[in-house]
Amino acid sequence: MKRLIQLTVNGQAHDLVVTPVGTLLDVLRDDLGLTGAKRGCDLGACGACTVILDGRPVNSCLTLAVEADGSDVATIEGVAAPGRLHPVQEAFAVHGAVQCGFCTPGMVLVTKSLLDECPEPEDRQIREALSGNLCRCTGYVKVLDAVRAAARRLRAREGVR
Ligand code: FES
Ligand code: FES
Repeated sequence: MKRLIQLTVNGQAHDLVVTPVGTLLDVLRDDLGLTGAKRGCDLGACGACTVILDGRPVNSCLTLAVEADGSDVATIEGVAAPGRLHPVQEAFAVHGAVQCGFCTPGMVLVTKSLLDECPEPEDRQIREALSGNLCRCTGYVKVLDAVRAAARRLRAREGVR
């Protein structure tokens, strides 16, 4: 039986009719046209579908839409001001951490979430945070460089060292 849910996505409220087995990824991509979250494995193994749900990164392919009822969702489409890149996105571009780009929205959102909580992470913490996000292109070294650079840039912007 279908259900009505309410989601706030990138600051905009939506009333949505969903099936009991529909996922948050289905809703974002198919109902709202937000295709930044990618459907990779659809099994919770690749992180390409990552979004921020009530402040925490989640695999939207594993999150039922009904479970997200009443929640606040942030997707890659809302991460930066219109026409601009977020400093994490800039760092990924500058440091060659984007190749095909399929993993990038998930990587950027996880990185942003990490740096919001931990502005000066150790490499171990960066690796741990991104351990659920697979990339078949970059070999991860450039991703690590990008996250370190983004952290430095955000700290400089906030006037912290
Ligand atoms: Fe969700 Fe791979 S598509 S984890
Ligand atoms: Fe291609 Fe990561 S840049 S999968």
